[in-house]
Amino acid sequence: MPDLEKLIRLSKERQYDVYTRFDWPERVAEDRLWCDESLLTTYGTDLHGTLSEQQLIALSKWEAINFYSLNVHGIKDALEFVCRKMYARRYADYTEYMHIFLAEENAHMWFFARFCQDYGGKIYKTLAYKEDQAGTPPLLDDLYMFSSTLIFEEFVDYYNRKVGENASVPDIVREINLQHHLDESRHVKFGRDIIKDVLTSIRDEAEDWPETQSRIDATIRRIFLHFVGLMYNPHAYADAGVHLSPDAPSAAQTRNYLRNAPQRRPHHEQWFKRTARYFESIGAISDSNFL
Ligand SMILES: [Fe+2]
Ligand SMILES: [Fe+2]
Repeated sequence: MPDLEKLIRLSKERQYDVYTRFDWPERVAEDRLWCDESLLTTYGTDLHGTLSEQQLIALSKWEAINFYSLNVHGIKDALEFVCRKMYARRYADYTEYMHIFLAEENAHMWFFARFCQDYGGKIYKTLAYKEDQAGTPPLLDDLYMFSSTLIFEEFVDYYNRKVGENASVPDIVREINLQHHLDESRHVKFGRDIIKDVLTSIRDEAEDWPETQSRIDATIRRIFLHFVGLMYNPHAYADAGVHLSPDAPSAAQTRNYLRNAPQRRPHHEQWFKRTARYFESIGAISDSNFL
């Protein structure tokens, strides 16, 4: 597998010591945004224009904590899954790279968790995507786990790449986003390849491919929508003091309004479209216009 050998070589060349990679400040400045303004989940809606500079900064802080918390939980699930599969004969070609993947993700989990705890005082609880596994053939189950890992990684990478290039965010914020983006480019390549490989095997072995295909199509779309939903965390709105109006202080209401605001749809497309197109291109979903 020449592609995997290249990934392994690149990973080794770009290895770093995570424990000395960053300068952790006592506190992170709260006089500026912690991400691009366009990455805030209020962006594009009527509510956004009503927010003060202070509220925007607070929202950028708590949504950063939400984002990094999502990483912590997403990584835990990916580590657990990869550990279970890495010595299966089916994945023998991938075992060596999986070792590298585990080490890199463990490092990511460490810096994201540290950031949340040191500067937010907590890691938000987040619901992982869990497919009801009863009756799901093992290879389909693998497809869903690799797919949810990839969708999650590309979703997060959209944010990491932008913040990692943003000269005006605090240094520690830029550095962890940049480092994560650099590492994830290899994981995305690996994820895309292994998904295509697993999907090909499922197609070759399926007794009723159209039926299996429509099941895959529905499940993959559900996974995408699950992650779109996780961008909008009611606890982040409550912590940031962002409410629909003084008469409507409910964080759940604010969350539902933003999640369903039509002005947010083009932003969901920006975040997720290239990934959805990939799934469409390999025949895992029939149409990428559902975000
Ligand atoms: Fe990661
Ligand atoms: Fe990753």
